[in-house]
Amino acid sequence: MAYDIKTIGVLTSGGDAPGMNAAIRSVVRSAIYKGLRVVGIRRGYAGLLNGDMSEMNLRSVSEIIHRGGTVLYTARSDEFNTKAGVEKAAEVCRDRGIDALVTIGGDGTFRGARDLCRAGIPCIGIPGTIDNDVACSEYTIGYDTAMNTAMESIDRLRDTAQSHERCSVVEVMGRNAGYLALNTGIACGALSILIPEIPYDIDRDIIDRMLFTQRTGKKHFIIIVAEGAASATDIAKQIEEKTGIDSRATILGHVQRGGRPTTEDRIMASFMGYKAVELLGNGIGNRIIAKKHGQVMDFDIEEALSMHKTIDKSYFAMSSAISL
Ligand code: F6P
Repeated sequence: MAYDIKTIGVLTSGGDAPGMNAAIRSVVRSAIYKGLRVVGIRRGYAGLLNGDMSEMNLRSVSEIIHRGGTVLYTARSDEFNTKAGVEKAAEVCRDRGIDALVTIGGDGTFRGARDLCRAGIPCIGIPGTIDNDVACSEYTIGYDTAMNTAMESIDRLRDTAQSHERCSVVEVMGRNAGYLALNTGIACGALSILIPEIPYDIDRDIIDRMLFTQRTGKKHFIIIVAEGAASATDIAKQIEEKTGIDSRATILGHVQRGGRPTTEDRIMASFMGYKAVELLGNGIGNRIIAKKHGQVMDFDIEEALSMHKTIDKSYFAMSSAISL
């Protein structure tokens, strides 16, 4: 079914991610270029329910392409997670003359968009989360910046671990997904990487590897754990108890969510925003924008949400082999 779309709303929801601003900018500018009106909705679905929104123009998105965070703010809404909440949100869109929405976020954001689609408001989702855990897409906005932020921090930790001949156990974000931990770990040459998708055994996967490499002359160690796999503090304590090697835990935390987006994130965000508006301008809704085989494309929202993403275990095997 082709929709008649003249006004679009744009919002960011869930955890913020560097590059979200570049996506907002692209949506606003692409829409105005196509002769559409754009309304910026603040604080995600919570803001939509409260009518927290205003019209945006070309200058509303000046000076934001290089900034982390989201100028539209973000929030999580319990009310929107109810049937009544979704109906109310659809009603707010109709009252305000918003014909369609672009929602930028992760799976939770897309489930909300799907519910709104079912309630008659066409939506397009743009993947924005540092976790890179959107199943239909190889890439999510913010992932590259977060990896680089984590990598730079761990490079610094390596300097002090090397000087003190210690073990540095670093906890990176990823409650349910280990992409950030795995790829940061590879880039930092971590001896062991723990991620939620792969069960671990502390003796086999950490202690034995430390003792083996110690016998070959290694004197400092970097261990990466995703927050959803283990606690860095617990692992550091166990390492010290089992090996006697002085160990320190560092939790990188929300520092990974901030900062200037990388070129990759700015370019992908720009392209994805443009693509979202192109679809809406052609009367097409209910899609998720994705990067697949290096190309920006789109999937039906219901189909996208039924997909599953699995960790490529060959990365894990390669890392285990070359980090000894
Ligand atoms: O943005 C994704 C993420 O960083 C997850 O890795 C993490 O589990 C979650 O957000 C934490 O979000 P918050 O602290 O904002 O609740």
